[in-house]
Amino acid sequence: MVDSQNIPRHVAIIMDGNGRWAKQKGFPRTYGHKVGTENVRKIVKYCSKRGIEYLTVYAFSTENFKRPADEVGALMKLLVEYFNKETQELKENGVRLNVIGDISTFSPVVQEAIQNGIEKTKDCTKLIFTIALAYGARAELVRAFKNMIADSVQDITEEIVSKYLYTFDLPDPDLIIRTSGEERLSNFLLYQAAYSEFYFTNVHWPDFDENEFEKALEEFARRIRRFGGV
Ligand code: IPE
Ligand code: IPE
Ligand code: MG
Repeated sequence: MVDSQNIPRHVAIIMDGNGRWAKQKGFPRTYGHKVGTENVRKIVKYCSKRGIEYLTVYAFSTENFKRPADEVGALMKLLVEYFNKETQELKENGVRLNVIGDISTFSPVVQEAIQNGIEKTKDCTKLIFTIALAYGARAELVRAFKNMIADSVQDITEEIVSKYLYTFDLPDPDLIIRTSGEERLSNFLLYQAAYSEFYFTNVHWPDFDENEFEKALEEFARRIRRFGGV
């Protein structure tokens, strides 16, 4: 087990492979999303246990709206269920729910469930659990530029750009994990990932358990981060 000094402060996960996992087992894709959502619960607990301060998960991208309406609908339903069912326990465990992305594109019922979860857990500090919803890094950057213009920001610096992103109150991710074999960012945290370590695994998200997570932490502990230095 990796010792606590070598634990990343911020882990971000591209939770991919729910559909393929389900297909392999002869189930509809939406069943994969259901089991994938259950896995989120386990991984949040494990992050708390391992002393990770920030966990960010990519749950729904701006591009995922292109999927068939019944799949998008099933994902929205799972989202509402997740927020309604988990908020209380997250709060008891000191987990603050946070969302990045443009959820104004979601229906009022979904938005309400999300806002309620954020509000109820706002004073928690043990783990900041951020869910990327209707999130796309390019859209995030465009929004930042527009807001900087609207605020008449004169002297744009890297720090100011960071403050205009959805992630303004989060440190950059130290480790980005992507499950299910694809090795790409798919429009996730482009600006913030400048010096992140990447960990790719063929394991599909519903099967990515504590043991698999620990393997990613072990790999991270072996990496030497230079940030451009020597
Ligand atoms: C990830 O699983 C969850 C979402 C993108 C919502 P996928 O649904 O992308 O699963 P695959 O990649 O098709 O297997
Ligand atoms: C990335 O997965 C988005 C999420 C995990 C929410 P996708 O399945 O949408 O990515 P692509 O289409 O394979 O790039
Ligand atoms: Mg996918």
